[in-house]
Amino acid sequence: MGLKLTFGWVCLLILSLSVCITEAQGQTKDFNVKNYGAIADGSTDNSKAFLKAWKEACEWTGRARVWIPIGTYRVNSVKFEGPCKGPIAFVIKGYLKAPTEPSLFITQNWINFRYINNLTVSGGGVLDVNFFNLLSCSKCKRLTSSYALQIYFQTMRFDFVTNAWVHHLRSINSKNTHFVVFGCVEVKFTNTRISAPADSPNTDGIKMANSRGIKIQQTTIRTGDDCIAMLAGTRHVRIFNVTCGPGHGISIGSLGKDGDQNDLFDIRVRNCSFHNTSDGIRIKTWASPGIGKVSALIYEDIFMNQVGNPIIIDQEYCPYPPCKTQPSRVQISNVTYRNIWGYSGSKVAVTFRCSQSTPCRDLVMENINLHYHGRDGEGSTALCNNVKGESLGPQNPASCI
Ligand SMILES: *[C@@H]1O[C@H](CO)[C@@H](O)[C@H](O)[C@H]1NC(C)=O
Ligand SMILES: *[C@@H]1O[C@H](CO)[C@@H](O)[C@H](O)[C@H]1NC(C)=O
Ligand SMILES: *[C@@H]1O[C@H](CO)[C@@H](O)[C@H](O)[C@H]1NC(C)=O
Ligand SMILES: *[C@@H]1O[C@H](CO)[C@@H](O)[C@H](O)[C@H]1NC(C)=O
Ligand SMILES: *[C@@H]1O[C@H](CO)[C@@H](O)[C@H](O)[C@H]1NC(C)=O
Repeated sequence: MGLKLTFGWVCLLILSLSVCITEAQGQTKDFNVKNYGAIADGSTDNSKAFLKAWKEACEWTGRARVWIPIGTYRVNSVKFEGPCKGPIAFVIKGYLKAPTEPSLFITQNWINFRYINNLTVSGGGVLDVNFFNLLSCSKCKRLTSSYALQIYFQTMRFDFVTNAWVHHLRSINSKNTHFVVFGCVEVKFTNTRISAPADSPNTDGIKMANSRGIKIQQTTIRTGDDCIAMLAGTRHVRIFNVTCGPGHGISIGSLGKDGDQNDLFDIRVRNCSFHNTSDGIRIKTWASPGIGKVSALIYEDIFMNQVGNPIIIDQEYCPYPPCKTQPSRVQISNVTYRNIWGYSGSKVAVTFRCSQSTPCRDLVMENINLHYHGRDGEGSTALCNNVKGESLGPQNPASCI
């Protein structure tokens, strides 16, 4: 009897241990949107089905996976909110299409993830806002292009998300920014492909603000505005192996338009290439009263292929004149440009138009080789206003620091 009991207890112990282990490993449970009524016919609105699948997945205490199988799904604006009870993955195998009636572009974004920890978005699928086809559709003739320009509709947005990984996704034909990261911590993008027509306005690739620990790697961005835009409150960013172009390059700013504090620091851009972009690596601040600091930036191992302004700091940024004309009070310091080479599309390959009131400090130019083939046979030049720093190693154009 005693022996039996002991044996029984051991069994129980083993059983509960294995239950414990299984739970700790977190068996993944799939929540297939088709089981929630999604129809992959390209026209049915699947928002409700997607939201139902999300809600149950979010309630699941183990690892949950919202599964969108291959097929074309129309989805109107959806908001996927946490906090969830366990790590959650959103696997997009299919092709997601935004609404086609202008009246449904009523929210500021299409697919919104909010307040989630441990999120993965992946699957090899496509996010298609299809906006440029919408403009030509006959039903939408009343949509004048000026009205169309006012619509603000970001493709995928992350608000207050932590520990997220976005990979193997394609975003095409965005109306506004493709991916927005706001108030997030530790978000990584890898193997993501982003594209919108070169002449589509405001179609930034990835835009971030008030976020830290953002990584963008092995990613290709072809769009009509900035490939990557970093705004106020961005820290600890690593951008590696990114191909940008067409587009407006990788930008910090614009900053300092309003009275806000605009601090950004610890940003590294490495091993990236720019193809036929209007700008390469750019920092822009308005000639306005906003204050702030931009520091600890390293740009290295970068190839420029026919880039309008390969290296530029513009502290008199004014895309829509007239602007307030007072020197920018955003302080730019400790910026290193190392191993930057290739071809400039304009004669002035390096532009440092810094502020009179807060000159750029500790700028380091190291090993720069940017060619320009002018009709007159002249090479590239550099322009410096209010800059302090140093140049190391070969310099083409001749350094102006
Ligand atoms: C979830 O996120 C926490 C940090 O908040 C991290 O420590 C943990 O490893 C993550 N868990 C999983 C399963 O990804
Ligand atoms: C960049 O890409 C190369 C080859 O594709 C890879 O070996 C390397 O690890 C990547 N670097 C980073 C930081 O992702
Ligand atoms: C840089 O990127 C190229 C491809 O663009 C890759 O072949 C190379 O391995 C990368 N190098 C590093 C050090 O990441
Ligand atoms: C460069 O961009 C311009 C304007 O976007 C375009 O007209 C031109 O064809 C592009 N050139 C290449 C080589 O892609
Ligand atoms: C300058 O930036 C580098 C790299 O981002 C950082 O390691 C260093 O501490 C900074 N220096 C100062 C004086 O802030």
